[in-house]
Amino acid sequence: MTRKEYEGYLTAHLKPKRYKHCLGVEQCAVELARLWGADAEKASLAGLLHDCAKWMKGETLIEYLRTHGYPLDAWDMSSQQTLHAPAGAYLARETLGVQDEEVLHAIACHAVPGENMGLLDIIISLSDFIEPYRKEIPGLDEIRSLARTDLREAYHRYLGQMMGHLLQEDILVHPRTLLSYNQYFLDKLAERPSG
Ligand SMILES: [Fe+2]
Ligand SMILES: [Fe+2]
Repeated sequence: MTRKEYEGYLTAHLKPKRYKHCLGVEQCAVELARLWGADAEKASLAGLLHDCAKWMKGETLIEYLRTHGYPLDAWDMSSQQTLHAPAGAYLARETLGVQDEEVLHAIACHAVPGENMGLLDIIISLSDFIEPYRKEIPGLDEIRSLARTDLREAYHRYLGQMMGHLLQEDILVHPRTLLSYNQYFLDKLAERPSG
């Protein structure tokens, strides 16, 4: 598919505000990819398409994932607003013809961290939060500038911010989000000189 065709799909299926958000995520992801040594073309594609399945809701979404063999567990069923991410990866492959596994993985885990979060995964997840059109919330600017100086720290703060919001609103925190948040501390410990 060409860029024009991707854009055509998104504008036909997403609300204008959501489409603008996708462009913002793409813009931010490309900038971070150049800064941190990831592939800017992959960042562009994953950023643009990360919410391509956002129009799917309720039973349609669940059915779509079931048909594609996605292993829906109790956590998934309790946090359905995040399921457009794995659905988006299936859709990008099947309907939009994306074949790049790194791009598909980044789309699949942009809402809830997956296992083995790579550089591109972190860049897309973080760009989803800090993209330039996102409305101002406390702490956002700090994470925005951290993303340009310390990507791992910025991602950790983002996860903390997201979990704080979920706890405040009494919404389930997916265990993978908590695992990813804690991984930061384990990595820090592992880096400490021994003895
Ligand atoms: Fe999303
Ligand atoms: Fe998004």
